[in-house]
Amino acid sequence: MCGIVGYIGTRKAQPVLIEGLKRLEYRGYDSAGVSLMNGKGSPVDTRKAKGKIAMLEAAIAERPIEGSTGIAHTRWATHGPPNECNAHPHVDCTGTISLVHNGIIENYGPLRAMLQKTGHTFVSETDTEVLAHLVEAAFDGNLEDAVVDALALVEGTYGIAVISSNDPDKIVAARKGSPLLIGIGEGENYIASDVAAILAHTRQVVYLDDGEMAIIRRDGYTVCDLDQQIVKKGVSRIDWDLDEIEKGGFDHFMLKEIMEQPTTITNTMRGRLVTEEGFSKLGGLNLTMDELQNLDQIIITACGTSWHSALIGELMIEEHARIRCEVEYASEFRYRNPIVTDKTLCIVISQSGETADTLAAMREAKRRGAKTLGLVNQVGSTIAREDDGGIYLHAGPEIGVASTKAFTSQVVALALLTLKLGRLRDMSVVKGREIAQALEALPAQIQSILDRASEVEKIADAFADATNFLYLGRGYNFPAALEGALKLKEISYIHAEGYPAAEMKHGPIALIDAEMPVVFIAPHDSVFDKVVSNVQEVKARGGRVIAITSREEPSLEGKIDYEFRIPQTIDMLNPVLAAIPLQLLSYYIAAKRGLNVDQPRNLAKSVTVE
Ligand code: F6R
Repeated sequence: MCGIVGYIGTRKAQPVLIEGLKRLEYRGYDSAGVSLMNGKGSPVDTRKAKGKIAMLEAAIAERPIEGSTGIAHTRWATHGPPNECNAHPHVDCTGTISLVHNGIIENYGPLRAMLQKTGHTFVSETDTEVLAHLVEAAFDGNLEDAVVDALALVEGTYGIAVISSNDPDKIVAARKGSPLLIGIGEGENYIASDVAAILAHTRQVVYLDDGEMAIIRRDGYTVCDLDQQIVKKGVSRIDWDLDEIEKGGFDHFMLKEIMEQPTTITNTMRGRLVTEEGFSKLGGLNLTMDELQNLDQIIITACGTSWHSALIGELMIEEHARIRCEVEYASEFRYRNPIVTDKTLCIVISQSGETADTLAAMREAKRRGAKTLGLVNQVGSTIAREDDGGIYLHAGPEIGVASTKAFTSQVVALALLTLKLGRLRDMSVVKGREIAQALEALPAQIQSILDRASEVEKIADAFADATNFLYLGRGYNFPAALEGALKLKEISYIHAEGYPAAEMKHGPIALIDAEMPVVFIAPHDSVFDKVVSNVQEVKARGGRVIAITSREEPSLEGKIDYEFRIPQTIDMLNPVLAAIPLQLLSYYIAAKRGLNVDQPRNLAKSVTVE
């Protein structure tokens, strides 16, 4: 969601912070700001702007700022509309303390009233501003002491970075529920909410955990808890390359990430498939053979696109591993009274590893005695650090807000897990081999689809002005339909719904007319013949049919208006191949409508608030 970056060193801080903000812009992007320390005791120099970072750069160009210590923020509005006043950093009444914040301060109302009574003046509508005033009220010459006192009064979640020109040789940061990491340089150090912000400068990072505070100086850093007891932290090395977080000649990150999928899927499978034995090796599960064999149920929980891959996982696991499996929205799971035993495995799926609802659901499942397994892309993220075991997706950084390559890697990781669980039960080696071979074939099959992207673009030409879409599929292709509809609505703002194809006649069929494009995900699988009848029902009512098929189908002749063929695979992997033209369709439609594909309105990449 919002992004934080801070720098303390000997260089000019402003270009470092602006570059860091640009790398974070994909997370939240309705306004931004920067504060630099400008000499001991003098007011901190702050510039803010509504809109893109380019607007902030323009504001700075008008009135340049100097300094080698500073903090910066890109905002995704929660309290108060996006405008210059509500943008972070927020400063106290004296103008010497400046603070940026990700998260939500739940008791900001009473705190604000209390602070106003004691003479503090508020200028914004944000929850964050109370933090700046609380630090001011507690400040007695030492910034970390003041931060500890301020945070003792706060309920909610935060990742914060604070500077004070009255204690100028440090940035103080603290975390509860919102990710933060320290970037370690030479004679300079960084604080950031996301490694992308500082990757151009360092690969050595220290991840903060909840309840920890960091005091970051030019020549070092200290991590402690909120009782100021020192906490020993390990240093992690980031393996990403800088070009992985750049567009590399593509118009949008989304298109780059769609095109990367032959490689990202290969990376998800690397070293994990034992095709000859029809088996998979998953080193990080941290479950004994006994635990794996004695599971009595699996609960998969996730949000959004990751929830769609969970639905595919449920079908795979029940069909091939024969373990009872339920899928639940993380936001619902966390607030009900689910049945969890010590033989329950709770799988949490998250690209970012930071989604607040998913993290809370995982903690709840753990508290109830389940073992937890994270399918996470972002190495070192909170879910990856708190789960009992995991399967990293290795899809590389996903910058486009609409999830693409993470989705296909999630489905592949679930297939690897299904193989493992199935072969520990009654899946034959022949079946195991069939699945493993189908997995191995995926990268080349995806490439063959991508080579024909222009065919999808032509279909997009015909539908760029549509106002509604239906996506229909059965079996494994129903979650694929949901994902296709989500991709379209989030980046093109066209209303789209996914449905099980046969459910259409129980209501949505009333919507079908010549204005309604209907996308059928209809590869030649075990339910294909049933889907043909549903296509017929749409056609009979004048609907325009786009079909994703996998071979010449005489039974569809005369019933479809547009067709895109994907290669033939086994039923459970059809959603991986079908996802590619669906992603391309929404990409091209959104691009043709002139929309900001990578940063669709109102959305943020990683949803770290409830
Ligand atoms: C859709 C999308 C979102 C995310 C959801 C979960 O394209 O990106 O629906 O899938 O917010 O995010 P993660 O996977 O990071 O937990």
